[in-house]
Amino acid sequence: MTSGNDKGAPPSGGRPARTAIKAIRGTRDLLPDQTPLWNRVEATARELFGRYGFGEIRTPIFEATELFARGVGEETDIVSKEMFTWEDRARAASEKAQSLTLRPESTAGVVRAYIEHKLGETGALSKLYYIGPQFRRERPQKGRYRQFWQIGAEVIGPPSSGSESPLRDAEVLEMLASLLNELGVRGWRLELNSVGNAEDRARYSAVLREELARVKDRLCPDNQRRAETNPLRVLDSKDEQDQEIINGLPKIADFLGEESREHFRQVRAALDACGVEYHVNSRLVRGLDYYTRTTFEFTVQTGLGTQNALLGGGRYDGLSEMLGGPKAPGIGFAIGEDRLILVLEEQAKQDAEAAAAKPSEPKLDVYIAPLGVERNPAALALARELRREGLRVEVGDGSFKLRKSFDVANKVARAIVLLGEDEIASGVLTVKTFATGEQVKIARVELVGCVRAGRSRDMEPGPASQ
Ligand code: HAM
Repeated sequence: MTSGNDKGAPPSGGRPARTAIKAIRGTRDLLPDQTPLWNRVEATARELFGRYGFGEIRTPIFEATELFARGVGEETDIVSKEMFTWEDRARAASEKAQSLTLRPESTAGVVRAYIEHKLGETGALSKLYYIGPQFRRERPQKGRYRQFWQIGAEVIGPPSSGSESPLRDAEVLEMLASLLNELGVRGWRLELNSVGNAEDRARYSAVLREELARVKDRLCPDNQRRAETNPLRVLDSKDEQDQEIINGLPKIADFLGEESREHFRQVRAALDACGVEYHVNSRLVRGLDYYTRTTFEFTVQTGLGTQNALLGGGRYDGLSEMLGGPKAPGIGFAIGEDRLILVLEEQAKQDAEAAAAKPSEPKLDVYIAPLGVERNPAALALARELRREGLRVEVGDGSFKLRKSFDVANKVARAIVLLGEDEIASGVLTVKTFATGEQVKIARVELVGCVRAGRSRDMEPGPASQ
């Protein structure tokens, strides 16, 4: 009991009670019952990337804000509203104050590292993969977090290394299809598009700008601004009221020049050759400015709700130059690891439910019902004979009423064998199979073969298990 003057004091004296500190909205703890799946996914990815000649790169978790502003693009949702940015004070005369940002994605950082460490000077392709956290100030919901993990890879190099070849695009896509299959992801769908080269995009943007000028008054304020500064970004707006207008805008596919068209044709031909299924989606422009030519997303219907993009990527042939580097075409992707895990967990749950819903297999092949206690020794002898042949057998008791024998047998076995005086004398047994209700007379010598045949029939896969 508390008296009026000790209001607010802790019940047992000592320090005042404190509210518990919780993880920040949009961030999560991964506990020991969750991390084994994360580790399995990461180990599978590392092993597979190794088979394709990729090596790991680890870049800093924060970078200069300008890297993302220049690389990802000022007008993108990511840069204009989702970055965790702060002004970092100088701590010594030798330091400069600067704007820093927690990385919202890793492609810009990887290309910065490629330039900084002059990886292109070897003349070879750089094939780099990374696994790590990214940060975006998005509205959290299932599959969308403020700190999330990506498993990504980039293939980049001087043009002489073959970095522009459509074969690189197809190889990356084939690798992703293999990874998802090896992880056991079911029902994925590859959406593929080409957003053209810089000239195609300039032509398309000009037309889009004109079209948008006509409908500008009906657009939300964000899209009104984008319609002038970066019309392509209007296409990935999530504003619901603007969707009808956006759907009526011209498509980039109609503005691709011959070079881009041929590049895209060759990507598709290589995918066809290795049997990777895809769906061309001419609306897929992706929400980052650096993309040129091939863009793609893998979606799944299970487990992600509205966030159905499991991974995304594409080609970025001008990014290195945008960041002050040499010409270095590249292509890459990033898988949302949190989303991948959600899908795998959901699919495992579905599998468990399907297994539970399947009628459980009776444990035994036959149940021998002696008809009267005097038949017990013969029943045991028959059971011994059948068990020696490898059958799974239960023996009842002659004191059981026939009804009881049937009830017990139905629970534990697929068939019941009745053993009465006549059966023993004639050597012809009465056998009833519960699944079919069929009751037959079988010579004792044929019993083993019949039971085995019934067992393998039951084990044949039905249409539902395919
Ligand atoms: P992105 O499409 O922005 O591309 O992100 C890739 C994937 O990261 C998405 O498909 C999604 O699965 C996951 N993701 C994005 N935001 C969140 C979030 N808030 N919560 C959970 N998962 C999320 C990129 O990041 C590019 N850097 C990909 C790339 C690499 N392009 C070329 N190379």
